[in-house]
Amino acid sequence: MRIVVLTGAGISAESGVPTFRDAGGLWEGHRVEDVATPEAFERDPDTVHRFYDARRQASVLAEPNAAHGALARLEQELGDDLLVVTQNVDDLHERAGSRRVVHMHGDLLTALCNACGARTPITVDLIERPPCPECGERMLRPDVVWFGEMPYELDAIDEALVACDVFAAIGTSGAVYPAAGYVMTAAAAGASTIELNLAASEITPLFDEVRHGPATVVVPAWVDEVLAERG
Ligand code: OAD
Repeated sequence: MRIVVLTGAGISAESGVPTFRDAGGLWEGHRVEDVATPEAFERDPDTVHRFYDARRQASVLAEPNAAHGALARLEQELGDDLLVVTQNVDDLHERAGSRRVVHMHGDLLTALCNACGARTPITVDLIERPPCPECGERMLRPDVVWFGEMPYELDAIDEALVACDVFAAIGTSGAVYPAAGYVMTAAAAGASTIELNLAASEITPLFDEVRHGPATVVVPAWVDEVLAERG
C-alpha cells in the first residue's frame, strides 16, 4: 500500500509553532507581501530576515509531537511506500525520525546564495549578512519558497500522487496551491483520500473521509488503523 501524506502548519501547532491562518497565526501579524515575496526581499531585506530568523529560532526550540512521531512510525513499517510532502519549513518531521520528507516550500535551516546558487546550512542569523561558505558573497536568503515562486520537487510529488493508494492531508487549510489540489490529483488516479484536521478546511468536501481533532490525537489513531489493516 503506497501512501502520500501532505502536512501543513497544523501538524506542528501543538509543538508550539504558530500556523498561518488561525487566530493569532503568522499572517495576522504580518502581511504576506511584506515578508514572503521576492519583491519584499528586494525592497526591505532586513524585515524579511527578521521574520525568518525569528521563525528559525522558535522552531529550533520546538519539539516534534505525537503526530510527527506517528508518521515516523508509519515510515518504519512502510519504508519507501510512504512519502511525506510537507509545506512546513520546520524540521520536526526529520527530528521525529522521518527520512522520506519533501519540503515543497523549502526549509528554515538552509540558506540559498543569490550570488552562486549554493545551498548551505544556516549557522548565523541572516540579518547579520554572513558570507556564503561557497563563494564568499554576502547575498544569502532563506531557502524558503515565497509567493510568486515555484515550490520544490513538483514532478517527484506528482509522480508519488498518481501512484499512491491512499492520500492523507494533515493540518492544512487548503488555501495554497498547488498543495491544495493534491487531493484531486490523487483521487483522479484512484487513491482513497482522508483529511485529518482540527476543523473543516477550505477543501474538506473533496475528501472521501474526514476526521476532525487535534493532530496529536487523530494522526496516531489513523496510523494505528493503517498498520492494523495492513496486518
Ligand atoms: P494554515 O495556517 O493555512 O492552516 C493550518 C490548518 O491547520 C488549519 O486548517 C487549522 O484548522 C489546522 N490546525 C490548527 N491546529 C491544529 C492541530 N492542533 N491539529 C490539526 N490541525 C490543526 O497552514 P498551511 O495550510 O500549512 O506558505 O498553509 C499553507 C501555506 O500557506 C504555508 O506553507 C505557507 C502559508 O502561506 C508559504 O509561506 C509559501
